[in-house]
Amino acid sequence: MLAFFYDYHTLALLLVILFFLFLHFKTIQTIKKSVQKMTEFSKKISEGDFNHSLNIRSRDELGALANSLNSMKDQLSSLFLDLVQEKQKLSSLLSGMYDGVLAIDPNKKIILYNKRVKEIFHLKEGDVRGRSLLEFIQNPDVISFFERALKEKKIFQKQIKIIDNTVKHYEIVVSPLQQDQENMWGVVAIFHDISDLKSVEQMRIEFVANVSHEFKTPLTSILGFTDTLINDKDIHQTQKEKFLKIIKQNVERLSYLMKDLLSLSSLESEVMFHKLCFKIQPFVEKLMLEFEKQAQEKEITLKTHIKVESMTADEPKLHQALYNLLDNAMKYTEKGGVITLSIQEEKGFLKLAVEDSGLGIHSTHLPRVFERFYRVDKGRDREMGGTGLGLAIVKHIALLHGGSVEVESEQGKGSLFSILIPLF
Ligand SMILES: Nc1ncnc2c1ncn2[C@@H]1O[C@H](COP(=O)(O)OP(=O)(O)OP(=O)(O)O)[C@@H](O)[C@H]1O
Ligand SMILES: [Mg+2]
Repeated sequence: MLAFFYDYHTLALLLVILFFLFLHFKTIQTIKKSVQKMTEFSKKISEGDFNHSLNIRSRDELGALANSLNSMKDQLSSLFLDLVQEKQKLSSLLSGMYDGVLAIDPNKKIILYNKRVKEIFHLKEGDVRGRSLLEFIQNPDVISFFERALKEKKIFQKQIKIIDNTVKHYEIVVSPLQQDQENMWGVVAIFHDISDLKSVEQMRIEFVANVSHEFKTPLTSILGFTDTLINDKDIHQTQKEKFLKIIKQNVERLSYLMKDLLSLSSLESEVMFHKLCFKIQPFVEKLMLEFEKQAQEKEITLKTHIKVESMTADEPKLHQALYNLLDNAMKYTEKGGVITLSIQEEKGFLKLAVEDSGLGIHSTHLPRVFERFYRVDKGRDREMGGTGLGLAIVKHIALLHGGSVEVESEQGKGSLFSILIPLF
């Protein structure tokens, strides 16, 4: 009986132990599964995948841990989104910038750059972040400038010239990227293209030099002859008259020069520009009348070919432009030649052209004839009394009307100068 009791008791104990063992096993299995889930979950987060949540429903510590991991994921996800957006903003800001931006660390390794920098230095490689600056930039001025900024931890500004197919001028500003009082991340440089500014400055320098030169010749002559007239008491009357004539010619030359310069400057400042609709016929007749006498003297035939009744433009300015073209045609066409003024519509433009059968211009000079003071034959053209500003004035008048100028010419055969003004 006792044996049976013991057997029964042992069996019960065994069953209890088995039950607890089963429970223990089950718990371990659940914990293992949860840990596995958490491992996978954190792996996904580390890979930047925030689309999943931990699904552990237990009410114990594991459940609490899962809840805090889920809320950590939500916070990380929103932080990550913010970071991605900030990065996108920065990269579109950098790539949209007209200026070049290039940042390097204290070891001269590139940490940031934009598209413009790649264009400036012709970088063909893909992503050059982490690579040495010296691998890509050979310009000694730029390198020494970066090195100085890294060493002295100050803002520097400098103008540099980069020559490859063309000459480009840049203003570089290099500033330190300060981490704290002593340490810095590196330096960042901004490359601003100032080539247009430089060429305007160069044009201004050349213009002043040209103006001075143009003034110098007649002034020297006037001074010389007036000195002779003052100092030489025995000078003969005919000689005196000859000298006075030369002085007068030079004064006239100076006054033409002044007139043309003032004309150019008023055209450039765009003041007094009035467009009105006017009839072409009387406008052309007036112009032709001004050249009639000259044409008769040089036995030049003046022709007109007018296909438009009226036009909208600044009449006095257009008169000046056509006057300059006709004046040139008259000057550079020899006896017996033909000059034609034509006005007609052509492909959405009003084309005002002056054609002559004169000396013509060699093709090497054609791209420059509209420049101020440009003369094909310096000696000859100056002798003819020209200032070299006539065509520059024509070009400015065309530009003021939103149009352009063109020239076709062949040496020995003649020239065709055209002003093209958009119809609308
Ligand atoms: N119709 C033309 N035929 C041949 N050469 C021309 C003609 N028009 C202009 N040129 C050349 O182009 C140059 C520039 O002309 P532009 O009218 O600007 O100056 P200019 O006639 O010398 O002086 P300005 O007109 O100021 O009195 C001239 O010096 C001349 O060499
Ligand atoms: Mg001229």
